[in-house]
Amino acid sequence: PLKTLVKMLAVASVFATSFNVFAEPIEIKFSHVVAENTPKGQMALKFKELVEQRLPGEYKVSVFPSSQLFGDNNELAALLLNDVQFVAPSLSKFERYTKRLQVFDLPFLFNDMDAVNRFQQGEAGQTLLNSMSRKGIVGLGYLHNGMKQFSSNTPLNNPADAKGLKFRVMASDVLAAQFDAIGAMAIKKPFSEVFTLLQTRAIDGQENTWSNTYSQKFYEVQSQITESNHGVLDYMVVTSDTFWKGLPADKRKIIKEALDESIALGNKIAAEKDNEDKKLILDSKRSQLVTLSPAERQKWVEVMKPVWAKFEDQIGKDVIDAAVAANK
Ligand code: LMR
Repeated sequence: PLKTLVKMLAVASVFATSFNVFAEPIEIKFSHVVAENTPKGQMALKFKELVEQRLPGEYKVSVFPSSQLFGDNNELAALLLNDVQFVAPSLSKFERYTKRLQVFDLPFLFNDMDAVNRFQQGEAGQTLLNSMSRKGIVGLGYLHNGMKQFSSNTPLNNPADAKGLKFRVMASDVLAAQFDAIGAMAIKKPFSEVFTLLQTRAIDGQENTWSNTYSQKFYEVQSQITESNHGVLDYMVVTSDTFWKGLPADKRKIIKEALDESIALGNKIAAEKDNEDKKLILDSKRSQLVTLSPAERQKWVEVMKPVWAKFEDQIGKDVIDAAVAANK
């Protein structure tokens, strides 16, 4: 009788698994470092909504914002260990896996977000999605945030105003070289630490988009924001080869479509937030806007642009040329 019971249970469990009867939905984890009221935060929530709507009971998506699960220092390693299935680090954070994406960090490369978009959607940009395939990382698409501005506690009109100041940068040698070029000190720190570093005056400034400066409240601890639009902060949504290839083809297709639609929404939000969050910051009167005259801006261009040459070999001249060509 006991043997019969065990056998019956075994049969029942095989049945349940094969037909997904009592099985729990498979959990897909999406971890990111920003707040929910951001382009990436909203994109991840849309992805959750669409996947769960289209694959009900089969998959569920758990979104972990604000470095709650993984932060800048470990999210890509966690992805490769399958401890998380989707992350969307900024393009500046892939340096350990490919040097080619550093093109996005070159100062004063893109005129505006339309140029960034043209480059990403063009042949060179699409090829870069595969630049980490040998490391087991699959690039599924680009997501916008926006152009970066400098923030500080003293007005930065000219590059000389930044001399000797400490700026937080993302973990990118190009971004470090950009601050070296103006005689400032670049300090690589994870996103989750930036507010406290600014608040305690351990650092003097940082560079970021209007959206991040607003949602992280950097403007409350920085009295000046220089509208420099000197670089871009965008993301690549990535998964691991192991997870991606392990999905049944029909499910993979549905998940990819859900992702593409979520990215489209995220991009729309990015364009809106760029204006809205700037306005919210300026309306708060906590930070003052520093506007550069064309002659002042030209000085920043002249000191920072030589950085390109230093990284040309690593990035590839073809990639840089394609990015420049996207400006027209
Ligand atoms: C930063 O570290 O400043 C940004 O990459 C954060 C983010 O994900 O937008």
